[in-house]
Amino acid sequence: MGRGYSGRSQLTGLMNSLYQQDLAYIQAAGFGDFARAAAPEIVRALRAVPVPVHRVVEVGCGAGPLTTILAQEGFKVVAIDVSAELLSVAQAACPRAEFRQGSIYEQEIPACEAILAIGEPLTYHDSGDADSRVRGFFRRAANTVPEGGLLIFDVVELGEPPLSGRFWKSGDDWAVLVDTQEDQSSRVLKRRIETFRRIGDLYRRGAEVHRVRLFDTAELCAWLQAAGFIVTTAVAYGDFSLSPRRRAFFCTRTQHSHA
Ligand SMILES: C[S@@+](CC[C@H](N)C(=O)[O-])C[C@H]1O[C@@H](n2cnc3c(N)ncnc32)[C@H](O)[C@@H]1O
Repeated sequence: MGRGYSGRSQLTGLMNSLYQQDLAYIQAAGFGDFARAAAPEIVRALRAVPVPVHRVVEVGCGAGPLTTILAQEGFKVVAIDVSAELLSVAQAACPRAEFRQGSIYEQEIPACEAILAIGEPLTYHDSGDADSRVRGFFRRAANTVPEGGLLIFDVVELGEPPLSGRFWKSGDDWAVLVDTQEDQSSRVLKRRIETFRRIGDLYRRGAEVHRVRLFDTAELCAWLQAAGFIVTTAVAYGDFSLSPRRRAFFCTRTQHSHA
């Protein structure tokens, strides 16, 4: 398994600005619980398919909470993320995995039996061709995994209740404030994120803006089926219930056509 991560230079402006130093620190310190809570169901699903799963590609690994569990469970993991800052945290946490920097929409998907994208990584989009990128990703995923192989991911879906609002969270040496505004007509959730992180005796203030795509669940299911997957969706990973308007997709590759 390779160590270190290979850089790519073709990232978009938005992708370059996701999870810089202080937000990466805060993501690692305060937001790993989602992936840790989802992990038992994901490991169960990986072990339940007829094809033996050895290699897993984890898209948007973040600070590596799921990567670490997958490696402990004996899977070979290639983890891909756009954020160099998050990748260095993840690599320190899980030196056994292989890490690659870049957007999954601009990278080849490494050979594997299962692809995971947990915690909304497929949804960060800043341009109008978001749908074709996601459909293209589904087709590439279907061409990568063998029959019986898996694609598991979650997104934010269109619908009710409204998600606009404000949220904050803090730890010993950090705080984050998030102002979320959604526009269902343009299918965009805009998160204005302010970070505060203690550096010496002072707090450093920073900001990022994330634009998250809102998806129509029936439309995603149709694209996945057209790509060659059987799909079930859920509002939980096993015993772990998702927040409102989050939906998980469990997709199994059907037989490859040899036409
Ligand atoms: C909300 S975080 C979730 C991180 C991790 N999966 C977890 O649950 O802790 C979303 C992650 O997706 C990454 N990401 C966003 N767009 C991506 C893309 N196009 N390709 C790869 N990673 C992406 C972000 O950098 C970030 O680490």
